[in-house]
Amino acid sequence: MSNLINRPRGTNDVLPGESELWQYIENKAREICSSFNYKEIRTPIFEHTELFQRGVGDTTDIVQKEMYSFTTRGEKSVTLRPEGTASVCRAYVENKLFGLPSQPVKLYYIGPMFRYERPQAGRMRQFVQFGVEVLGSNDPAVDVEIMVLAMEFYRKLGLKNLKLVINSLGDVESRQAYRTALVQHFSPEISNFCEDCQSRLETNPLRILDCKKDHNHPLIKSAPRINQFYSDEARIYFEKVLLYLDELKESYVIDTTLVRGLDYYNHTAFEIMLDGEGFGSITTLCGGGRYNDLVEDLGGPTTPGIGFAMSIERLLLGLQAQNINLPISNKLDCYLIPIGDKAKIASTRILLKLRQAGIRADLDYLNRKMKTQFKEAERNNAKFVAIIGDEEVDKNTVQLKELETSSQEEVRYDDLVLYIKDRIKHL
Ligand code: HAM
Repeated sequence: MSNLINRPRGTNDVLPGESELWQYIENKAREICSSFNYKEIRTPIFEHTELFQRGVGDTTDIVQKEMYSFTTRGEKSVTLRPEGTASVCRAYVENKLFGLPSQPVKLYYIGPMFRYERPQAGRMRQFVQFGVEVLGSNDPAVDVEIMVLAMEFYRKLGLKNLKLVINSLGDVESRQAYRTALVQHFSPEISNFCEDCQSRLETNPLRILDCKKDHNHPLIKSAPRINQFYSDEARIYFEKVLLYLDELKESYVIDTTLVRGLDYYNHTAFEIMLDGEGFGSITTLCGGGRYNDLVEDLGGPTTPGIGFAMSIERLLLGLQAQNINLPISNKLDCYLIPIGDKAKIASTRILLKLRQAGIRADLDYLNRKMKTQFKEAERNNAKFVAIIGDEEVDKNTVQLKELETSSQEEVRYDDLVLYIKDRIKHL
């Protein structure tokens, strides 16, 4: 055991016991997407590095510090995807989904993302995002549809104290005016800020507002707010979003400092947080927003877009923080206990028949004593054990015992499937 190889930092093994939770959550995500009429898209785990440089933005922390990029034999640089939106937009353009008869295009994805971050609870280097993207509609009702989808999803899983935080980042015109005001505001004091912020003043002054190092600087608190710079169009758009939220009685908090860490956003930006009982310092479960220029920036036709993403890892931490137990069942329906070689051979045939009928069944493969096999059946939460000895083989029967009640009956092979199905709810 001297040369143990461990998993890389910031990654996780999802073992049986926990993997059932993942499956449950993923199934719920698929169900809700289906009822909101979103279709699944699966894009590659790695893309050309340029996609994220152009899509997510050259000046973002993700692109500057967190990408897993490498060059394959003589090829261009490729990157393990740090997020899904740029890939979905690339696929939308490449596969000409703008030409589909049914519009807008409503997509969802569930898959691993990679960011070279400093690992802590809820911040992994490999994590799984569930995300949705709607391409081709500029209707504020869509902004609200995706927020409600995320909120309903969390509520269905039993989460409480959810806080929907929303802001508008305005359109290009609003952003330009805001940018100029921020540069004026921070310039005289910029030497007192961290190095990152000093370069952000040139490249992306908005990002100074959510700097992790300088967040207590008084100039951040006194900085002008985006809502002072909205164009009429941006203000009206935001008002409509709020109107639809009110109509659906979805409560929200407006936070004019919410800027988000990716460059492609304009208009609506939102995050969903767990209010109160968080986990560590991270309480953001989900983030998203509108990106009306991204498809065009990636070489496609002018196409408005909006979406969100959330990680399953943070969701699980949220469920844990609120002591929510998902209703997963890993019960076995029937455990077969053969006694003797002849019965062992016959039991493989019975086992297959049960399984073909959708009954969860298993058999001892360690040739253990009968008593130990009973223990194994209990460990698997089996509803029934079927005991098969020479005599039963000759009569084509089994002794079927219900573990909870200890009641036992002799059942013919031919009747076994129906008998068990009759007694078990999930079948
Ligand atoms: P993001 O805010 O970078 O946005 O990430 C969205 C969510 O992914 C976060 O709220 C969190 O749940 C999860 N997440 C991010 N980084 C980590 C990490 N290191 N470990 C665990 N979970 C993490 C985006 O990715 C955008 N693509 C969202 C979007 C879609 N905007 C429009 N469409």
